[in-house]
Amino acid sequence: MCGVVAIVGKEKASTLVIEGLKKLEYRGYDSAGIASLNNGLIQSIKLEGKLENLVNEFNLLTKEKVYNDTSIALGHTRWATHGNVNIKNAHPIISENKVAVVHNGIIENYLELKEKLLSEKFNFKSETDTEVIPNLFIKYIRDGNNFLESGRLVLKDIKGAFAFIAMCTDYPNQLFVSRNSSPLAIGLGENSNFVGSDAQSMNHLTDRIVYLEDGDHAILTLNKVKIYDKNFNLTNRKIINIKAEIGFITKGGYKHFMEKEIHEQPSVIPQTISSFAVGKKSLKIDVDKLGFTDKGSLLICAAGTSFYAAMVGKYWIEQIANIPVTVDLASEYRYRKPCIFGQKSILVISQSGESLDTLMALRYAKELGLRTSAVINVEGSTIDREVDYSLHTRVGPEIGVASTKSFTSQLVVLYLIAITLGKRFNDIKQDVIEKHLKFINMLPRAIAKMLELENKIISIAQIIKNSNSVIFLGRGFLYPLALEGALKLKELSYIHAEGFAAGEMKHGPIALIENDIPVVMFLVSDGYEDKAISNLQEAYSRGAKIILISDKECIKKSEFANLKILIPEFNNEFKSLLSPILMSIPAQLLAYHVAKERGTDVDQPRNLAKSVTVE
Ligand code: G6P
Repeated sequence: MCGVVAIVGKEKASTLVIEGLKKLEYRGYDSAGIASLNNGLIQSIKLEGKLENLVNEFNLLTKEKVYNDTSIALGHTRWATHGNVNIKNAHPIISENKVAVVHNGIIENYLELKEKLLSEKFNFKSETDTEVIPNLFIKYIRDGNNFLESGRLVLKDIKGAFAFIAMCTDYPNQLFVSRNSSPLAIGLGENSNFVGSDAQSMNHLTDRIVYLEDGDHAILTLNKVKIYDKNFNLTNRKIINIKAEIGFITKGGYKHFMEKEIHEQPSVIPQTISSFAVGKKSLKIDVDKLGFTDKGSLLICAAGTSFYAAMVGKYWIEQIANIPVTVDLASEYRYRKPCIFGQKSILVISQSGESLDTLMALRYAKELGLRTSAVINVEGSTIDREVDYSLHTRVGPEIGVASTKSFTSQLVVLYLIAITLGKRFNDIKQDVIEKHLKFINMLPRAIAKMLELENKIISIAQIIKNSNSVIFLGRGFLYPLALEGALKLKELSYIHAEGFAAGEMKHGPIALIENDIPVVMFLVSDGYEDKAISNLQEAYSRGAKIILISDKECIKKSEFANLKILIPEFNNEFKSLLSPILMSIPAQLLAYHVAKERGTDVDQPRNLAKSVTVE
């Protein structure tokens, strides 16, 4: 992944680049660096760890006038792919004190290029794939090419997904930028121009944004931006006015962004609902735009938490609309020669709209002739721009790396899609639709009630915090939630956790059960709860510590459970259908509180990033 940002033509460019990097830290945070040109020389600061380290060092060095804040600078926040996390591999990667590059993505043929460059006596100081870029620039500049020509020759050499920015001492007023699959946007200013991984990284500088398209490259100077397409033809890309800065995103009195985002669900989910439902009467999802003109099967692709939302979506759409749904991991889809028989459309789900796996699945499906739609939170993101039909979840920026309000809002949209398709293809009557919508509209209040379980969840966190391994079980609609609960716990607390379909335990995972291993089960009475309770009993008999989060009926039938958390009473016939949304709340709270107890970095867990733009 990584975030890149650069400025040409504005005083104190490094300070402003750092401001941009602060908004890009969601893309990676294992090291950070900046470089600028000062009197024809490259000056640079790079540090391991969070951006905060770079900020402190930068403040010190500028105060002592060791680093001069001039009017051209670039910066980077890293999520390591090639090469360990250390200063040597942190960007900007600088070759011969002449060319500095910040890069997001992977140069897939870098080994081949590196070998060739080494044979031509070029120097490599890092283990990164990126370092071939500045070296190639130097090679071509030495051959007599100007900056633009050299950049074009570099583009002919490199393969992979990338977005990079290059700066050269011979061209002190220019930035060369290019993108292929990884996102890059240009910001237009007055006597200054900017470039960054997303529009937000520049919203303190301008509200006029141009998104580069795949294969584009550009030269930025203080008063000109020249964009060329993949055939090297000068081109114009649309200028988009982004919304004025929505103010500095704060934790609003909470200790962590994740905590805030969990707690704001009752107030943001209504925005999702009202985007797709008109009161309690009708829906505003366009079936034709979904590409679902006649009854076929639907394909849903996503990654991570969004994939678990897709799994729930499959259960709902099949049950409510009677339409077969295939759910695929985005990272697998385009490499497994999928059979599209009976499929006319693909729905992708992505909070960020930038996950490269998901984007690639989408593009592949397009090549196969499928119509495309997406459930997305970040408007203006790459997937949002490339898809035929976007359904925005509208829950506002999610800063914590672990998805919380995004997940529940994705579920809401999927549920509404299921009802929409059910109306068109499964003859669901108006009174039933109204009932569904009535309960959907009650969700925010129900979520608020679920949040009241927090103290009880804290007591479970105390029990789990020292475990080496935790098992999550679920059946039916709550099976995907067991997977999501385990993912949340492992990514935040670093405790090994696995989720299983409760009925599958006996087919293998039960071998993992040993004395006192916590087994967490989300359960609501759905007519099949006895089966799930039997599965739980099987784990209990083998020594597991059973933590049951459930309703009155199920708890009554599970006297044996070591810990029972009674969820608020939701007296409605859709309780089971809506349970994945409601039960997300204890799953999120549990992961959050275990992580907090263990003192891990809740908002920026190790090795992760919010937006994963590498395959
Ligand atoms: C990363 C994040 C996960 C997220 C996944 C998919 O792995 O750490 O929290 O679920 O990407 O992201 P998307 O933005 O496509 O939903």
